[in-house]
Amino acid sequence: MLRLVAGNWKMNGSLAANRALLDQLVVVPGVEMAVCVPYPYLAQLQDRPSGLQLGAQDVSEHEAGAYTGEVSAAMLGEFGCRYVIVGHSERRALFGEADLVVGRKARAAQAAGMVPIVCVGETLDERDGGQVMAVIGRQLAAVLDVVGVEAMARLVLAYEPVWAIGTGRSATAGQVAEVHGGIRAWLRAHGVDAKRVRILYGGSVKPDNAAAIFAAVDVDGGLIGGASLVAEDFMAICRAAADAV
Ligand code: 13P
Repeated sequence: MLRLVAGNWKMNGSLAANRALLDQLVVVPGVEMAVCVPYPYLAQLQDRPSGLQLGAQDVSEHEAGAYTGEVSAAMLGEFGCRYVIVGHSERRALFGEADLVVGRKARAAQAAGMVPIVCVGETLDERDGGQVMAVIGRQLAAVLDVVGVEAMARLVLAYEPVWAIGTGRSATAGQVAEVHGGIRAWLRAHGVDAKRVRILYGGSVKPDNAAAIFAAVDVDGGLIGGASLVAEDFMAICRAAADAV
């Protein structure tokens, strides 16, 4: 399975900064590279290195109509988005996105021909309380209920422990392997063709820890926040993904 490394720019960038970043980005062979950019920059990203996939960071669960401020999956499709992040922990925690809404957004993205990158992960309190797979299982079950078993195998999952996001404190390769294995086992137990599902890790991935993380069992790529805003760092992480066996 070709690894996927997706940059999540979050609410960062400007026309000038994006252009400078794109001018330095060289697509790395042996890995699929994507950038998930703020909505207004989707137009600018029409001019990007060939082979660099485009994605968004959210999508409406609704198709069209009176939903002020929302952006539909069909609109993202018109701009050539292949991926859309749904259920990022920042959206869950800061914008009250519930498990069921995440499932509906994943369904909307798939209906428009895109691949949702569904984020799951526990807080530090939940980890300390031994709740890691209980929490992730609940998050996955809500998506499975909405999209169904067959479609579940066609999405990308991202394990993003909340305590590792933007903290500089990445999960260890062992922790990542354990949870990714748990996610794959959960999928299998629920009838999903688990080997088809790419499971990315996200949370303080940097050039200096990327190789160890990508070498861990069941890690099919990464979702990269801060380091994706620095061309050299993003490319180094992509090279680590391409080189991992
Ligand atoms: P950082 O890489 O900045 O920790 O962010 C991870 C993330 O949230 C990617 O979606």
